[in-house]
Amino acid sequence: MKKQIKLAEITQDIGRAKYWLDRGELTAIPTETVYGLAGNALNVDALIKIFEVKNRPKFDPLIVHIKNKEEIPKYAEKVNDLQHILAENFWPGPLTILFKKNNLIPDLATSGLEYVGLRCPAHSLTLSLLNILDYPLAAPSANPFGYVSPTRPEHVNKQLGEKIPCILDGGPCEIGIESTVVKVDEEKIFILRTGGITKEELEKFGKEVILSEHSTSNPQSPGQLTRHYATFSPLKCISRDKWMDFFDEKKVVLIYFGSPSKEWPSGWKKLCLSENEDLKVAASRLFHVLREADEFKPDLILAEPLPMKGIGIAINDKLKRAQAEN
Ligand code: TXA
Ligand code: MG
Repeated sequence: MKKQIKLAEITQDIGRAKYWLDRGELTAIPTETVYGLAGNALNVDALIKIFEVKNRPKFDPLIVHIKNKEEIPKYAEKVNDLQHILAENFWPGPLTILFKKNNLIPDLATSGLEYVGLRCPAHSLTLSLLNILDYPLAAPSANPFGYVSPTRPEHVNKQLGEKIPCILDGGPCEIGIESTVVKVDEEKIFILRTGGITKEELEKFGKEVILSEHSTSNPQSPGQLTRHYATFSPLKCISRDKWMDFFDEKKVVLIYFGSPSKEWPSGWKKLCLSENEDLKVAASRLFHVLREADEFKPDLILAEPLPMKGIGIAINDKLKRAQAEN
């Protein structure tokens, strides 16, 4: 007899999500960036479940999602003007700001660090959910650690559906790549992870914006781990003029931006990020296209780097980290 596998309940009812979360269980939640694997951020047992379900190392801190910027002083200390300005300008939205945490936030949420990443997500369903809860939600991306992040409920269900009771279905994610993570002092903004808010947008406040480079040996933000966002099949992020060097490979998927070339072998699968060279469209499709490429089980995925401007910088960062070897 075939074993019956119990998958998560997929619902648009925030009452169902609240039901599970109030009991210390986990629920996947939609955000404008990617789907999150959420639990009560103030409940250590729920936090332990998040690390277990994701198979996530305990050194990788979680982002805490709050319903609005008025909640900041509930969980943070010594908030400075620049932190206020950024929250005021970008929330709800894809920016995670590090704050000095107070004692309400369990050490496990921040992996023992003194700073907690807070973010108010721009998704109506999840904001409605946060409004009926009396605790914030810790939520990493809802994928097994190291794999491509989910941007649709079915992505979550496929990989984590057996391990969690509920997925709140908010449709496909609009932005499609994670929030930008920043640490700020009075005068400078340090980008620890590139994402939905661009460097150019952060520069509008007249402060210096510094893109921090961190290596695997010294991750300040493990989204900066050298290999992350990875597909199961090997991937190379390399410009299209070098693709013919791989002519001998049989099963190849090409991920391209703009117009296809007639020279590409007809037997190779081709997936486009955006025909019109629209970087925002490319970001919203990136993780779905990487999953589609992987499902084909190719010998190799070739992805071309995008223009290094705006959100293209974050997309290239994800593609580079998805590469098999560095
Ligand atoms: O868009 C997003 O940020 C999504 C949605 C669900 O909100 N969440 C997300 O979480 O991408 P996660 O855990 O997959 O990635 C969070 C990143 C990690 O690289 C983590 O190391 C970093 O943010 N981070 C979180 N708290 C931090 C802290 N206190 N200090 C340094 N880095 C932190
Ligand atoms: Mg993640």
